[in-house]
Amino acid sequence: MIIAIDGTVSSGKSTAAKNVARELGLLYINTGLMYRAVTAYCLKCGVDTKDKEKVAALANELRIDLVSEPDGQHALANGEDLTAECKGPLVSEAVSDIADNVKVRERLVAEQRRLGLEARPGAVMEGRDIGSVVFPDADIKFFVTAPPEVRAHRRYLEFKENGKNVPEEEVLRSVLERDKRDRERPVGALIKLPEAIPLDTGDLTREEVTAKIVEHVKKYESGS
Ligand code: DC
Repeated sequence: MIIAIDGTVSSGKSTAAKNVARELGLLYINTGLMYRAVTAYCLKCGVDTKDKEKVAALANELRIDLVSEPDGQHALANGEDLTAECKGPLVSEAVSDIADNVKVRERLVAEQRRLGLEARPGAVMEGRDIGSVVFPDADIKFFVTAPPEVRAHRRYLEFKENGKNVPEEEVLRSVLERDKRDRERPVGALIKLPEAIPLDTGDLTREEVTAKIVEHVKKYESGS
């Protein structure tokens, strides 16, 4: 079974995907982390993330493994754990360059399909183009979002928790910028597919989001 969870930045889709996978005994695959791992590897090797050919060549030779650890999913690039770098500001700033690179996308999409098809009894795959490109035949698709102000507030609180005081208006600007880039990407753009179940997480707790997705999946499985 493949469950596709696409959605906007800071919509709560990662937490939901992780929890749904745990609850249903499926493999959780964070595809954004794969784009981040390629970015972290480029930065480590001193490759300009805007140099499309060089990045594509590097990505072609790169083996990315996603490993589940007690503290969450880790990304290994050629065996090296780059998870900490993947979450850092340098990678967050440059990752859109990598996600815009058509050749990198081809390579990662192929890898994501392999991971999904090998997963037994299935996978919860989270990203932007899972339902549209990676698994158009996914058993069930979700489109997760929340109003930009709500998502910006969540990010603002996260920054604050980590000791960073970024003005909320600045966070909102960056959320809107990321949305635009995600929606306007020439390949693998974020879209709301007609068959995807919409989920606005604005007024929901994490537990409620997980419960709603699980409920839809159980309904789907029972054929009702
Ligand atoms: O979900 P995230 O913020 O960790 O994703 C990192 C970047 O990768 C972000 O720019 C969106 C992009 N991405 C993508 O283009 N396609 C995916 N399937 C997953 C993420």
